[in-house]
Amino acid sequence: MPELRVAPSILTADFARLGEQIQEAEAAGVHWIHLDVMDGRFVPNLTFGPLVVEAIRKVTGLPLDVHLMIVEPERYLKDFGQAGADWITVHAEATPHAHRAVQQIKELGKKAGLAINPATPLEALLPLLPELDLALLMSVNPGFGGQKYIAASTERIRRLRALRDELNPVCLIQVDGGIKPENVAEVYRAGVDVVVVGSALFNNQPVSDNMKKLLGEVYAAGPR
Ligand code: DX5
Ligand code: ZN
Repeated sequence: MPELRVAPSILTADFARLGEQIQEAEAAGVHWIHLDVMDGRFVPNLTFGPLVVEAIRKVTGLPLDVHLMIVEPERYLKDFGQAGADWITVHAEATPHAHRAVQQIKELGKKAGLAINPATPLEALLPLLPELDLALLMSVNPGFGGQKYIAASTERIRRLRALRDELNPVCLIQVDGGIKPENVAEVYRAGVDVVVVGSALFNNQPVSDNMKKLLGEVYAAGPR
């Protein structure tokens, strides 16, 4: 198995049968479940809060990876922790106190992630990189599923990989947005550890078929 974890984003799943969709993904061999929390302020869309995370916690044993696209994330970290999140990621652009937010996540006994948007310099991650469990590079502008991968993200992954290897080898690199069978090998080879995949996994085909297609491309890329 290549050292790549797949974290399906439920954003394009059928919310009327969310439990089933998550179990279908689990049966297809995904590694984490990625949950996109949006507040209509940090991003121009609204999704769900801790209640839904809590409900999902009951239907799967997989790690829950909560991506907070909300302003003032500090206000809600405890709620998401109690709801059953295993990984909690905040955006560097969403708080002037990213360091405090990361410490709070760790104090809750959770894994801490820091995310940056496509227009944010990689340098924004550096002061905190030695303390992070996960660094998330957005490869679309956050807010919606089904957007096109921003090509410049691949070089950012490569640069972050070098920095990560030097400053904190145990921190995972995650990429989120527009990942498809056509580009998954590219981001894998650039050095990503976790791919978030929404519309290429939850669409009108069975999740297991989509997962096979995706992993087929990674296997074909060979070891990195
Ligand atoms: C974007 C979200 C992503 C996204 C992934 O704001 O953070 O998780 O929904 O979906 P796709 O893979 O369709 O881009
Ligand atoms: Zn996300």
